Amino acid sequence: MTALQTIASLVYLLSAICYVIGVHMMRSPKTAKNGNILSGVGMIMAVIMIIIEIINDGKIDLGGWTALIAGLVLGIGYGVIKARKVPMTDVPQLVSLFNAVGGGAAATIGIFDYLHVMPSTSISLIFSIPVVLDVIIGGTTFSGSLIATGKLSGHVPGKPITFPGAKLCNAVAILAMLAAAVLVIGFPTNWWYIVLALGASLVFGLLMTLPIGGADMPVVVSLLNAFTGLAVAFAGFVINNQVLIIAGALVGAAGTILTLQMAEAMNRSVANIIAGGFGGGDSGTSGAAADVPVNVTETSADDVGLQLAYAHNVMIVPGYGLAAAQAQHEVAELAKLLTDAGINVDYAIHPVAGRMPGHMNVLLADVHVPYEQMKQLDEANQMFPNTDVSLVIGANDVTNPLARESGNAISGMPILDVDKSKSVVVIKRSMSTGYAGVQNPLFSEDHTKMFFSDAKKGLQEIIAATKQYLD
Ligand code: TAP
Repeated sequence: MTALQTIASLVYLLSAICYVIGVHMMRSPKTAKNGNILSGVGMIMAVIMIIIEIINDGKIDLGGWTALIAGLVLGIGYGVIKARKVPMTDVPQLVSLFNAVGGGAAATIGIFDYLHVMPSTSISLIFSIPVVLDVIIGGTTFSGSLIATGKLSGHVPGKPITFPGAKLCNAVAILAMLAAAVLVIGFPTNWWYIVLALGASLVFGLLMTLPIGGADMPVVVSLLNAFTGLAVAFAGFVINNQVLIIAGALVGAAGTILTLQMAEAMNRSVANIIAGGFGGGDSGTSGAAADVPVNVTETSADDVGLQLAYAHNVMIVPGYGLAAAQAQHEVAELAKLLTDAGINVDYAIHPVAGRMPGHMNVLLADVHVPYEQMKQLDEANQMFPNTDVSLVIGANDVTNPLARESGNAISGMPILDVDKSKSVVVIKRSMSTGYAGVQNPLFSEDHTKMFFSDAKKGLQEIIAATKQYLD
């Protein structure tokens, strides 16, 4: 081992330590930012070390340098600009796009190295097995994540997209992937088999993600994130790079744990996702099952202020609309006003409220809402019967009682039992549906009042009104 190889091994080890500690620090909102920075430092060290190794190797020609520098400049430029400018509400589609890029890059590494090594007649299993796994998982992640990005950003319809014979096509794609894997391993010098593996995996990624919709989307995004990690780890085996193996394994493991937790929280089975029967609730129907609620009762900021000022227990139920309106400061101000007046205020947090895991926790931690006021689904549901006013702010699907019935896109999803509280006030701008496209009968219940407003503006008006009644 040369001195440079020893230094490189040590740098990669140090990078891996940075990732592991960084991920560990992401367990708490207090240390998450520094954990992110530490992981980033580890990544920068690894990239610099790889470039030093390439220079030392001396085998790269002008074309190689041009591709390398162009890739670095474009990748870093796009990443920095996009990540700095992206609004909080668009982070999920950006993460999904990064998953696509990660999967695509891993598959490309596998194919490139395979084509490079293929003219040799003695390709070992230690090489061909990781290559085929890398290409299949990377290809599936690439096309699946692009569809997920489109669905999250609204460029592809969010509701489940199915067609007659979809399950058969899925089965054919899976069989083609398996056959291609066996053929690549058995006859590694025929490059058509790797093309078949790539084609089948791209088709499978599309078929797997198109039928996903409604409440199931978070689970599949998380699953694709785990796939990206696995593909990157296999790419590490292909080019014999420890840092890729470790980083990929970390992402794969973290993504798998998150997928299992989200699936459990959504009452779904991960096996169902992979089988492609996912997305239509328990009946496989496509969405807006209920009629538009009629006879809703409208209310005003003044009425809501009066109701809140005379309540003992208030439950705030935040959802995607709170994030879209960036109304977290107002919600914290209202809660403080009420708690200072001796009223109990808690927040009911649904695991998939918003558009990314932990979305509501991040928003509320941003405005220093005490952790003990944030009640998770089960605890919140026990509290609703004793809640005088549930203030639903930009939440819809996560409160929809239709989830308790079969035959719609959110059937079986655990919900916040807001309808069991003594009275409900919903702040949203219109009678539009939420992400799953299902009308919400909660809005027309007798004890529910609708305050049609942008969440930020509406909360400012409610704060002013509540102050009057508390003075
Ligand atoms: P949604 O069901 O999407 O409902 C959000 C509501 O907010 C909408 O009905 C909208 O109604 C309202 N809204 C939007 N902008 C607003 C604003 N500026 N002011 C006030 N209201 C506003 O949200 P949810 O209840 O949080 O449920 C989340 C949904 O997203 C679930 O179906 C979940 O499966 C899905 N999803 C979640 C994730 C993760 S990981 N959290 C990822 C992908 C998808 P108006 O237009 O009438 O105002």
